[in-house]
Amino acid sequence: MELKEVIGRRRTIRFLRPYRPVEREKIQKMLEAARLASFWGNVQALDAVVIERATAPQDVLDALPVGTAIGGFQFRTAPVIIVWFVNWDRVDDQGNRLHELVDAGALGVHPQKSHQYLDDVLIPFFNAAREGIRDRGITEADCGQGIAQATLVAYEEGLGTCVIAAFAGKKLRRALRLPDNSEILLMQTVGYPAEDPLAGGQRPKLPFEQKFSLNRVGDAFPRDAAVVDELTRAGMLCETAPLPYRRDELRYLQEQYGLSEVFGDEIPELVKAVTAEAADDQRGG
Ligand SMILES: Cc1cc2nc3c(=O)[nH]c(=O)nc-3n(C[C@H](O)[C@H](O)[C@H](O)COP(=O)(O)O)c2cc1C
Repeated sequence: MELKEVIGRRRTIRFLRPYRPVEREKIQKMLEAARLASFWGNVQALDAVVIERATAPQDVLDALPVGTAIGGFQFRTAPVIIVWFVNWDRVDDQGNRLHELVDAGALGVHPQKSHQYLDDVLIPFFNAAREGIRDRGITEADCGQGIAQATLVAYEEGLGTCVIAAFAGKKLRRALRLPDNSEILLMQTVGYPAEDPLAGGQRPKLPFEQKFSLNRVGDAFPRDAAVVDELTRAGMLCETAPLPYRRDELRYLQEQYGLSEVFGDEIPELVKAVTAEAADDQRGG
């Protein structure tokens, strides 16, 4: 599959086959893709723990969040859950990454002078600006680039995923042995799709013209119909949801998974559970 087609086929897959394990190689490929992503100062603060349901210790499985308002069942059924976290210790080590870039010929022209400049100017500057940089969210944005690359590789490998911004408390942190100076960013369920890989069609996206401008906000970036045609032929732009059989497919999946008809039915129960989990967390439980 070409990259454009992979992008076109990437859509959130909430229904995964619980009985079909995911090959370790495929997960490795996702992690390899995340490792290569761009990162400010080559800091590489995105780390992950892969929870493989078939081999995970019981205390790790027991520490998984009860879920979210739109997907509690996903944590109970996914064969693999990748816990992506930002490791702030790596930001503290940024000076070494910059020196490596000089050695690699990626930064600066004259190696010795460039190392000197880093020590005298740039590293002290970054050290002084660290809190401001943290507040701007660029570290998290770069982690997102890594997760996005991993996600595209997953689809190229025939897998489906759902990124979940779940409340993940101390219990999970402890079970996974996360470093103190770290934060869980996102949890990503991974497996073979139980729904049609098209998942009912491409999800609605805001019109191109409303989102992108040329030179000034308000002057829409021109959308060339010939490019739209080309991307449609390449499989990047697809039929938008819902495809005609989607409602029947959802009914079928609902029965298979024993879910309620309205995802919101889960909310009161989940809110109670999440609140209890948060209170437990504050008590250090
Ligand atoms: C940061 C992030 C958090 C998300 N959290 C959830 C979630 O908690 N539960 C869920 O079912 N989907 C979650 N999603 C999936 C989005 O709802 C989904 O991307 C969106 O509806 C668009 O669909 P598409 O990915 O198929 O284009 C999340 C996606 C992202 C990127």
